[in-house]
Amino acid sequence: MGMLFADKGLISDQEIEDALRFCAGQVEANLPQFTRKFQKAYSEGNFYQPIENDYWTTGFWTGQIWLSYEYAKEMGEERAERLREAGEIQIDSFLDRIERKVEVDHHDMGFLYSPSCVAGYKLIGSAKGRKAAILAADQLLMRYHPVGEFLQAWGPMDAPENYRLIIDCLLNLPLLYWASEETGDAQYREVAEKHIHTAMANVIREDFSTWHTFFFNMETGEPDHGATCQGYRDGSAWARGQAWGIYGCALAYKYTGRKEYISTFRNVARYFLEHLPEDLVPFWDLEFTDGDAQPRDSSAASVAACGMLEMAKYLSAEEAKEYEALARKLLKSLYDNYAVKDSKASNGLVLHSTYSNHSPYNTCDHKGVDECNSWGDYFYMEALMRLHKDWELYW
Ligand code: GLY
Repeated sequence: MGMLFADKGLISDQEIEDALRFCAGQVEANLPQFTRKFQKAYSEGNFYQPIENDYWTTGFWTGQIWLSYEYAKEMGEERAERLREAGEIQIDSFLDRIERKVEVDHHDMGFLYSPSCVAGYKLIGSAKGRKAAILAADQLLMRYHPVGEFLQAWGPMDAPENYRLIIDCLLNLPLLYWASEETGDAQYREVAEKHIHTAMANVIREDFSTWHTFFFNMETGEPDHGATCQGYRDGSAWARGQAWGIYGCALAYKYTGRKEYISTFRNVARYFLEHLPEDLVPFWDLEFTDGDAQPRDSSAASVAACGMLEMAKYLSAEEAKEYEALARKLLKSLYDNYAVKDSKASNGLVLHSTYSNHSPYNTCDHKGVDECNSWGDYFYMEALMRLHKDWELYW
């Protein structure tokens, strides 16, 4: 990995501080509009509109509030108190949502409840956050199929056309590990481990590109076939899917301690890095590169950087330094060319991301193309925090 991008600059410590200060200020400025409401998943014309707490992405906004709170508190800034109050109001909403089961019939309980409620519990000891996150972990267990040993992503549980996992789900599993630790009940962890094993065995192809989604036979549980939803075509590598794979492998290793996931991480990361364009921020599918008239997905660069920084903790000092340098190079490009620097231009943090780009060969809706999105903003801040200090994961 050492020689990759030898000519590229690294984000400096000063730039990290400047970026974090701007992000925390931007988040605080958004509080009047987004304390009792949530950010929509993606911006429109680079501005987010408020929504109710009823979509799979709302935890990323609360996560930005907690990251801003952590930073402001450490800096002794007065706004820490305002951010904390907003975070607690949002936790009330997450508790209400899981108690009333509003739009929770899917696997994204980790994306929703880790950066919001687990974070609030870890940072300020929120009892409501703890309660909500355990209920969310219970909800996630209901997506488990013993036949096939995986957590089903979307849709009713009894239809063959839904009998699949998706690579993104690796980020939902830390919630289950956390719930086992908190409650002493091993069931959450056992389910997470089964899913990780099934996912790692099937979503990663021989060349270490990844399937977005993978189907199983509903009668026998046998692996059936891979397919895309949000990538360009079935056999291509959706950029964010590959990035979920990088972070997912790091988390899989952190929680299972299975050594083989380290080499899988190296290979999945290498595939991603070797398919980046000149400025190190991927197009929405790794099939595309410089010269293609296609939108970027800046969020994939932030997710990949977080994954490399997580994995670096478990590697030799020499290898860890290489991954930290790579993450700093991705962050440098995001900071220089993609990050919002003027709140009049956007109420988000990072431009040029892609949620769902419809192609002739995929099955997704067309939305949030070349916009900010809530997880792009969240993971950019998380990556900055990881470089700023020895950060305790919300995941
Ligand atoms: N987890 C869905 C997405 O990355 O768009």
